[in-house]
Amino acid sequence: MELIDSGHSGNEPSTVLRAVSLVRSFRMGSSEIEVLRGMSLEISRSERIFLCGDSGAGKSTLLYTLAGLERPDSGSVEINGRSLYSLSATQQTKFRNEKIGYVFQNYFLLPDLTALENVCLPALIKGSGGGRLRAEELLEQVGLSDRLNHRPAELSGGEQQRVAIARSLINDPQILFADEPTGNLDSSTGGELMEMLMHLVTEKEKTLIVVTHDSKLASLGDRQLTLADGRIRA
Ligand SMILES: Nc1ncnc2c1ncn2[C@@H]1O[C@H](COP(=O)(O)OP(=O)(O)OP(=O)(O)O)[C@@H](O)[C@H]1O
Ligand SMILES: [Mg+2]
Repeated sequence: MELIDSGHSGNEPSTVLRAVSLVRSFRMGSSEIEVLRGMSLEISRSERIFLCGDSGAGKSTLLYTLAGLERPDSGSVEINGRSLYSLSATQQTKFRNEKIGYVFQNYFLLPDLTALENVCLPALIKGSGGGRLRAEELLEQVGLSDRLNHRPAELSGGEQQRVAIARSLINDPQILFADEPTGNLDSSTGGELMEMLMHLVTEKEKTLIVVTHDSKLASLGDRQLTLADGRIRA
C-alpha cells in the first residue's frame, strides 16, 4: 500500500492545504507569547500566496507549522486531505521530503557540504536518481554555475540564499514555502528569482507560499495575506 498519494492525479481536490484553528504560543520564563491565536487558512492548487506582517508577527512560525516542521499547540493542517500532524514522525519526514520545498529564512545550509552537495541532499534522501545533474541545472538557473564547489562560509549571503532556493526545488515539490527568499538579494536578482519561481508554479501547477516584506513583490501574487495579532487579515 502506498503511504502518501503521489501527485497530480485528476482526482485531487482543488484545496491543497487546509489549516484549521491553529494555536501556537511560546513560554519564556513567566510570560507567554501567543503567536498564532486560532488561525485558519485554505489554499488552492496553483495559488501564489504572499504573506506579509510586521517583524515578530509570527510569519516564520506559521510557515513552519503549515509545512509540518513545528507542531501547533492545537489545530490541524491538512495537505491533499491528509492530516499532517496525525502522521508518524517517519511518515511526516517522507511526506515533507517528497511534497514540500522549503526556503528557510536563515537558509540552514549544511556547512561542511558544498553548494552542489547541499542541493543534492534531499534527492539523495529521497533515493531518486539524477540528483546531481538536476542540482547542477538548478544552480545554473539561480546563477551559481561557478560556485558549485564552494562551501556556505565561502559564499555571500545572497549566494547562500540562492543555493537554498535551488535545494528547495530539487525534489520537484508540490508546495513551495519560501521565507523571505529574496531578502538578501539586490532587487534585480531578487526579481529574476521570483519570476522564476512564479513561472514554475504556473507551468507545473504548484502552490507557492512566500513571506515577504516587499509590498511590490507581494502584489504579484494571487492573494496577499497579512498576519497581525495572531490572525490572518486578507
Ligand atoms: N522558539 C521560540 N521560543 C520563544 N519565542 C519564540 C520562538 N520562536 C518564535 N518566537 C517568538 O514568536 C514571535 C514570532 O516569531 P516569528 O519568527 O514567527 O516572527 P516573524 O513574523 O517571522 O518575524 P520576522 O519578520 O522578523 O522574521 C516572536 O516574537 C518571537 O520572539
Ligand atoms: Mg520570520
